[in-house]
This record gives sequence, structure tokens and C-alpha cells, in this order.
Amino acid sequence: MNSHDAIPPAGLRDRLGDRLGDRLGVAPAQLKSRVIDFYNGLNTYLSDGSLDGYVQFFNWGYLPVEGRPDDWSGSLPAAMLDRHAVRLVLELLGPLGVDGLDVLDVGCGRGGTLAALAARFSPRSLTGVDINPTSIAHCRQAHADPRLRFFQGDAEDLAFGDGTFDLVTNIESSNAYPDIDRFYREVNRVLRVGGHFAYTDLLQPAQFAHARDFLTTNGFVIAADRDITANVLAARREAAQVQLRAFNAQEADAADPTRAALMSYFLAPEGSEFFDSIEDGRFEYRILRLRKVANCIEL
Ligand SMILES: C[S@@+](CC[C@H](N)C(=O)[O-])C[C@H]1O[C@@H](n2cnc3c(N)ncnc32)[C@H](O)[C@@H]1O
Repeated sequence: MNSHDAIPPAGLRDRLGDRLGDRLGVAPAQLKSRVIDFYNGLNTYLSDGSLDGYVQFFNWGYLPVEGRPDDWSGSLPAAMLDRHAVRLVLELLGPLGVDGLDVLDVGCGRGGTLAALAARFSPRSLTGVDINPTSIAHCRQAHADPRLRFFQGDAEDLAFGDGTFDLVTNIESSNAYPDIDRFYREVNRVLRVGGHFAYTDLLQPAQFAHARDFLTTNGFVIAADRDITANVLAARREAAQVQLRAFNAQEADAADPTRAALMSYFLAPEGSEFFDSIEDGRFEYRILRLRKVANCIEL
């Protein structure tokens, strides 16, 4: 199914509500299947075209902005296609170590985060979970490193035992979870005490307030809480038009206004409705690094 069958863009205006379901005009119960359909559409588009081997991320990326301190001091080559996305991963980790750890990436998409970690660190294991079957199929085929394994699964119901991982990462995915508290409880459950939850997403300020409140009353302490909205918008300014052109490379899609509207929503180029709603403060992109100090009391 193409993504334009999944989410009608008509009425995207005025739908920038509290939750992704509201924004997309679907009830919470339908949201997961709509999300699956949407990413199936993107994956089909990529596999039908010439970009399949190049696109390993579905996030908006991070670009350093003058006057705003970064948490990662290195630099990535300007010619690196996915440098904004990789930079977001490295900023998310900040001072957290990865060597020797069991890492779980929830909402792993096309596996770029785990591949970036495998290329730069020596983790013991790297596990990715995503609700989308075509993304998992892509991951299994594209990432040959034997330390990486990928499973289709739901962030709200992780199929791993208690205390399995030292580090859980979650990048630009939780905004699509209908029951986010279930996800937060699951992260607590699968983490070992002393392990870390490295979390970044685009949410409304009230949703971040809820995350802080819920997580700190359920076994976590906050090690870092950074507003990276300006960095993400800078990455959008630099990369979104290029990505739009790449995704619209096929003539049929370029001529399809429905698809073009969806891609604009997904990639949020400067001047788009979604970009504006972030710039005017209705949404924030933040990094939260949390350390698990106790088992969640509300399992
Ligand atoms: C914007 S993409 C980000 C993917 C990846 N983290 C990255 O940075 O490239 C959001 C991802 O979250 C996944 N997702 C959405 N809801 C999910 C759920 N309930 N459980 C697991 N994955 C989910 C989607 O399938 C999609 O791959």
C-alpha cells in the first residue's frame, strides 16, 4: 500500500493537535496500523527506486548551531549523506558509553542508529525493534554485522525479559505511540538497574512535562534534558529540500499532489505547516537521558 492510501493529507491543516493520531485524523486504536501502512509506503517507494541502499534513517537529524553547545565534539564529513541523522544519534548518546553494552533501539526504522553504533563503538549486542515489517525486512537484508539483530514488535509490549539491556535508545518514534506510559514502563522493565534510556523526540511541551513526571516517579533519574529544536530545524533547513527532491525523483510521485503533501508533512521543509508549528513553539524536539535507579513500581 502506498503511504498516500494510509493517511489522507486533506485536513492536515488545523490537525496539529496533542497527539499524532489527532494530527493525522485517526483514532488511537487505528494509529498503529496507519503507522505501519505509512512506513510500508515509504519502504516500497524506496525499494522501487534507486535509493534503497542509501536511506537508513527516517529522522530529521541535528545540525550544530552557533552559540548553542553540542554534546558531541567531533565532526562528520560534509559529503556524508546521512550526517544529520548520525549526528543526532551521537548527540543523543553524549557522554554515555556503548562499549560492552547490550543495546536496544526501539522504533529502529531502517536500522541506521544501530549501524552507526556498530561502526563507532564495540557494544556486546545491538537489537532493533520496529512495528513495521518492511523496515525490519530491510534491516535484516541491509545490515550484515552479526552483532545486529532486528525484530518486528511493539514499543508498548517489548518481547524481552526483565533487565535484558544496558541502554535503550528511542529516536523520533514515541510520538506515534497511543499509550506512551506503557512504553515508558516497558523501557524500565527491560533495562538493568544502572542502565540508561536515551530518548529524543518531537513532542508538545506538555507531553515532555508528562514524560519527566512519569519517568522520574517510575524508577528513573534525569541525567540530561536538552532542547535541540533549533538544531533540528537547522537540519531541516539544510536537508529537507534535498530529501524531498530525492523522494520525489520518480515522475509519477512528483506529479501526485497527495503524495507530495504527505512527503512535505513527513520531511517538514522550511515554510511547511509542520515546520512552522515547531518554530512557533507548539512542538519541541528534546533529548532526555535518563538513568534507571529502580524497577518501575507500576508494572
Ligand atoms: C520517524 S521514524 C524513526 C525511525 C528511526 N528511529 C530513525 O531514527 O531513523 C519512526 C519509527 O517508529 C516506528 N514505530 C511507530 N510506532 C511504533 C510502535 N508502536 N512500536 C515500534 N515501532 C514503532 C515506525 O515504524 C518508524 O520506523
